[in-house]
Amino acid sequence: MAFVYVAYLYTLAALHTIVSSSRLPGIPTIPFEASNGGGTYSLSDIKSIIVDAEYADWTDKNGETMVPPSLREFGRAFGANLYDIWGLENLSQPVVSAPQPDSVFLTISENASHQYASGEASSEGYTLEVTTSGITIRGASPLGVWWGTRSLLHLAILGERELPLGKSVDSPAWKTRGMLLDVARRYYPPQFIIEMCSYMSFFKQNTLLLHLSDGLYNNANIYSREQSLSLYARFRLWSEAPEVEGLNNFKNESYTRNDFQYMQVECAGKGVTIVPEIESPGHALPIVQWKPELGLSTDLSVLNVSHPDAVSTMKTVWRTFFDWFDTKTVYIGASEYTTEDGGYNHFVNQLSGFIRNNGSKSVRIWGTLPPKPDSNPARDSSLQYFEENTVFDYNQDGHSVINSDATFHVVNKWSESFPQKVNLAKTFHGNPATGGPWEPTIHDTNNATNNPEKPNQNIIGAIAPLWNDYGPNATVYSEAYYAWREGIPALADKQWGGTLLSEEFITVLPILHTSIPAQNLESPIASTGPVIFRYDRESWAQNRRARSEENPGPPDKVADLSDNGYDAFTNCSVSANNTIAIDGCSLKTELGTKGRNYALTIRLYISQFGTDAVLISGQESALMLTPTITLFASENYYRLNATVPLNTWVDLSIVGRNERTFAGVQKVRLGDPFVARSDEEFKAVLGVNGQSFVWAPIAIEAPIMQIEASNANWTGHFGGMLLTTDV
Ligand SMILES: *[C@@H]1O[C@H](CO)[C@@H](O)[C@H](O)[C@H]1NC(C)=O
Ligand SMILES: *[C@@H]1O[C@H](CO)[C@@H](O)[C@H](O)[C@H]1NC(C)=O
Ligand SMILES: *[C@@H]1O[C@H](CO)[C@@H](O)[C@H](O)[C@H]1NC(C)=O
Ligand SMILES: *[C@@H]1O[C@H](CO)[C@@H](O)[C@H](O)[C@H]1NC(C)=O
Ligand SMILES: *[C@@H]1O[C@H](CO)[C@@H](O)[C@H](O)[C@H]1NC(C)=O
Ligand SMILES: *[C@@H]1O[C@H](CO)[C@@H](O)[C@H](O)[C@H]1NC(C)=O
Ligand SMILES: *[C@@H]1O[C@H](CO)[C@@H](O)[C@H](O)[C@H]1NC(C)=O
Ligand SMILES: *[C@@H]1O[C@H](CO)[C@@H](O)[C@H](O)[C@H]1NC(C)=O
Ligand SMILES: *[C@@H]1O[C@H](CO)[C@@H](O)[C@H](O)[C@H]1NC(C)=O
Ligand SMILES: *[C@@H]1O[C@H](CO)[C@@H](O)[C@H](O)[C@H]1NC(C)=O
Ligand SMILES: *[C@@H]1O[C@H](CO)[C@@H](O)[C@H](O)[C@H]1NC(C)=O
Repeated sequence: MAFVYVAYLYTLAALHTIVSSSRLPGIPTIPFEASNGGGTYSLSDIKSIIVDAEYADWTDKNGETMVPPSLREFGRAFGANLYDIWGLENLSQPVVSAPQPDSVFLTISENASHQYASGEASSEGYTLEVTTSGITIRGASPLGVWWGTRSLLHLAILGERELPLGKSVDSPAWKTRGMLLDVARRYYPPQFIIEMCSYMSFFKQNTLLLHLSDGLYNNANIYSREQSLSLYARFRLWSEAPEVEGLNNFKNESYTRNDFQYMQVECAGKGVTIVPEIESPGHALPIVQWKPELGLSTDLSVLNVSHPDAVSTMKTVWRTFFDWFDTKTVYIGASEYTTEDGGYNHFVNQLSGFIRNNGSKSVRIWGTLPPKPDSNPARDSSLQYFEENTVFDYNQDGHSVINSDATFHVVNKWSESFPQKVNLAKTFHGNPATGGPWEPTIHDTNNATNNPEKPNQNIIGAIAPLWNDYGPNATVYSEAYYAWREGIPALADKQWGGTLLSEEFITVLPILHTSIPAQNLESPIASTGPVIFRYDRESWAQNRRARSEENPGPPDKVADLSDNGYDAFTNCSVSANNTIAIDGCSLKTELGTKGRNYALTIRLYISQFGTDAVLISGQESALMLTPTITLFASENYYRLNATVPLNTWVDLSIVGRNERTFAGVQKVRLGDPFVARSDEEFKAVLGVNGQSFVWAPIAIEAPIMQIEASNANWTGHFGGMLLTTDV
């Protein structure tokens, strides 16, 4: 088996002499001193994950989270990962004081001297040691151990379970490493956010900033007061407290305290802290829609900071939600308040003081204001978003900043000024002084003069945002993941202080990608070949035989005629011509969703349908007749012009091809082979600031869970269904 690892290294060595450079290409890269004589240790030999009894209940008190997992909890999560990736079952997880042969021993090194680039001690560092008798991970804290387990996974995935013998001493260069997701102008379910945390965690990012309140751009030039007050704007936290009644009227697309708690704990369990942001006085349309008298008469998306109730209203909001947040720091926004009004400083200072004193939390704001002496509001640090302004903040007032250079901002799914994916070229070559890799000290990837001297104590990390400027109908949930699919690992390497090269990235990412635990973001379905399932008349024939011989009544198995054995079940009756009658009954697969790159063809004979008939539904989408062919996904209807003819057999297909989705209809006879057509394309129609529309592709997952008629508003016959990856 050692051969495999060597062969793999050889492949990469062809690109670069990675072995001699004392590092291995995880994402981020892993410093590594191979043992003299080399050799490997097989993950298959591991019998236990031992948590050092002395430190089992230790937690890391230095991070942003107030609910840090213990070493024991991280150990358990690591065990679950080994099961998730390799099916390693039944590894014992004793809590004892010493390693045993063939164990992964998780322990703490109290005197470890890991440091961030600033020289500050880091509790996130670790040492990973692989010997012929087992593995030891010694973290500066349990969180450090967790990042060490990520390195172990990377080495084992890249080495096909064979780990190189040797030692890695590793720690991040930057303390805050992560992303911002705009959940205000587009809702995401808690499960999606937790899976994004799994993805970030795999690449050692530790911060997910959630932008919790905002509205679509209030184009004050063309919107009337009424239009502004009904423009899409959301405050995503849901509280029953009477003080905030009316602030949020959309419970079904909000996070309750339980939801928020669940997301925070699940993400913290993977080393990722969810940090909340509630914006004011700018980007405050949800607040103004709640209390219109607080809006600036000239722009209702902005609070009038001179209004006597503006500060007290925001204090009420913060007071209501303080206890929800398991973080030491919160973001209060304060960005893009362009109005010339001396009340801005007062407003921000009041709110900052209130949160510091009454919430015992640190405060961060956006640093989007020009460096004027009269606009220097109080805060502990800022999230620095560079437009034309430059290094003023840390140079002029000594505050610490988090780099959020506009270069790495992404806007879903169209924009005049921002890209739709993280700029990888800038990630790997964004240092304007050298053409080398970007890192968090680089705030301007175009102009070296605008970047501070290194080292710089005031820069504590980097956060890259994804904005949903065009609201909820521009995208389905998973498109946020795809916008960041390559960007998260690429940025994560630079945020950690890794040295991955772009040519290594394109080789390593696809390999690591096969094995990222605790997420199902791409909704793949395992298959032995291009046909994932096929049910047709032979399935019903088998069904009829089974029924007549031993099992006279429903529900019945519907045989999958592919090699995968994804049998379905139905309680519908089978007709003499080996089709099933969809009338007050259903057919269910045990599958929910197929992600990108699929062709789903359903053979139907529709006798009649009513308003909003659901032909087939899945976890992420439903195929409907409204009366035209429609996909319903992530709260929105995506409609075509075509419909389906009645009282004739048709093959109705949906085809997901990368970021696009198509449909087609073909008249057929019952015995014909399936025909997948892709004649019409589903499109998102984005409204641009009330001025124009933009048509953009949309990538909708295939609904493959159930065909039903009981509540689905149609009747007819079902002749079969084919799902392939062949598009
Ligand atoms: C793990 O334990 C379960 C239940 O004891 C057993 O069914 C299974 O076969 C075991 N798996 C392995 C790989 O030993
Ligand atoms: C760190 O502490 C361990 C015991 O906990 C000790 O063996 C080791 O020598 C110490 N290392 C340093 C560098 O002080
Ligand atoms: C802001 O509020 C103040 C105090 O209520 C009021 O006098 C002023 O007209 C308001 N300004 C705008 C632009 O709404
Ligand atoms: C904190 O709350 C108390 C009681 O509500 C209030 O008197 C005090 O002014 C608040 N402090 C700040 C800084 O707002
Ligand atoms: C780079 O930035 C400096 C300082 O802001 C400015 O003076 C200079 O004109 C900029 N150069 C370019 C090419 O934009
Ligand atoms: C199949 O059988 C059903 C019921 O027996 C009948 O209504 C339908 O017309 C038949 N379809 C074809 C194509 O033979
Ligand atoms: C089939 O099962 C569904 C529930 O899945 C039920 O609503 C329906 O009445 C059943 N139909 C028949 C014909 O048994
Ligand atoms: C089913 O269709 C009828 C007739 O078009 C309509 O009145 C009814 O609202 C529809 N039911 C559902 C659940 O959509
Ligand atoms: C919440 O309910 C509204 C109104 O029924 C609906 O338009 C919206 O899509 C729902 N949101 C979610 C996330 O289900
Ligand atoms: C539907 O028809 C309209 C009008 O002909 C056309 O503009 C539009 O592009 C069509 N939509 C689709 C999805 O093909
Ligand atoms: C999407 O929402 C925008 C408002 O942001 C609206 O103008 C547009 O019509 C919507 N698109 C569809 C297809 O409903």
